[in-house]
Amino acid sequence: MKNFQFYNPVRILFGKGQIASVAQQVPAGTKVLITYGGGSIKQNGVYEQVKAALQGFDTVEFGGIEANPHYETLMQAVELARTEKVDFILAVGGGSVVDGTKFIAAAVPFQGEDPWDILSKRAKVTSALPFGAVLTLPATGSEMNSGSVVTRVATKEKLAFSSPLTFPKFSILDPETCFTLPKRQIANGIADAFTHVLEQYLTYPVNTPLQDRQAEAVLLTLIEEAPKVLENPRDYDAMANFMWAATNALNGTLAAGVVTDWSTHYVAHELTALHGIDHARTLAIVLPAMLRYRRAGKLQKLVQYGQRVWNITAGTDEERAEVAVQATVRFFESLEIKTRLSDYEVGEETIRHIVQRFTERGVKNLGERADVQIADVEQILTLSL
Ligand code: NZQ
Ligand code: ZN
Repeated sequence: MKNFQFYNPVRILFGKGQIASVAQQVPAGTKVLITYGGGSIKQNGVYEQVKAALQGFDTVEFGGIEANPHYETLMQAVELARTEKVDFILAVGGGSVVDGTKFIAAAVPFQGEDPWDILSKRAKVTSALPFGAVLTLPATGSEMNSGSVVTRVATKEKLAFSSPLTFPKFSILDPETCFTLPKRQIANGIADAFTHVLEQYLTYPVNTPLQDRQAEAVLLTLIEEAPKVLENPRDYDAMANFMWAATNALNGTLAAGVVTDWSTHYVAHELTALHGIDHARTLAIVLPAMLRYRRAGKLQKLVQYGQRVWNITAGTDEERAEVAVQATVRFFESLEIKTRLSDYEVGEETIRHIVQRFTERGVKNLGERADVQIADVEQILTLSL
């Protein structure tokens, strides 16, 4: 096992009716900015529950944070937070609202020239407004991690940052808030969480039986709950299990002491940035090609994954690894998520564009062995055509 530091200060309030406890979590006397997305919370009663819980607090609101939150939009919220002098933010929505809120929280007190530098130049976050979250979409793990991904529309860039200062103070996970999720978003959430686990698990072994089994537990839970929650999004137990699995997929525990990859996410973000394809779908496109191209380096873990998650026990290691990738593809397709670039009418021109961008950005040494270079990315994307 590798050395590691584990720090996760997020208080989770899980279950029915937990939104009412927001009032005990937000410090008394603070002025609260409520951030939300395109309006789903106004249609499913979540907004009313939040407003009721915050009775007695001075609040201002900022709605309209879009999927793959836009820097341009978030800067309007920063403006509002500064002029209204808010001291706390409550994010109500999916990963995009939570990620967007992390950026707002870090940007409000930012001393440099442009808060975009936090993303583009990795400018250090030295202070951030405290915030909490009411999560309405299990997928990203953003409710229990410190990462955030922001898109700049003007330049079609999608970049990530994280800081110990951008953990939510608390997150409310009430599965009932997810009953109104469209099937497409549920499928996306399952595929995203599944890929989060694989990016931390399908690398090479460093003797971490506990973390491996924790990862496999999350994968198996997602596989088991997926058909139930897609069939009936109002199945409380299935939604609860999916929700907690998605949180556990990216709250730091699976990464402790292991070697992580993240190259699939890094490459896939470009497909959202350039074509607006849903985040989870871009992962389903890139991951199978990534695993096939890098099979040799990931062989032992691919075989373990095949055996423990998909019961693949026959054949040579190489054959078993390939069958494991095929099982993964079938799983994505069972969620009605297509796994090839051509399914999304994306072709070689985009691959050239990504290669050019990565060259300009000086991208190198991706993956758990830091051996994935731009030429490899080109081959991987070509495999996924
Ligand atoms: O905007 P509203 O009207 O709320 O509608 C949203 C949005 O259209 C809707 N939705 C959310 N909850 C709902 C609902 N509709 C009905 N009922 C509900 N209960 O779903 C749509 C998608 O929402 P979004 O927040 O964009 O989805 P998701 O949670 O999948 O977040 C995706 C974003 O997270 C980033 C992605 O890159 C992407 O920008 N990620 C963040 C990570 C992190 N912070 O650790 C890691 C991930 O790998 C990922 O990169
Ligand atoms: Zn993801």
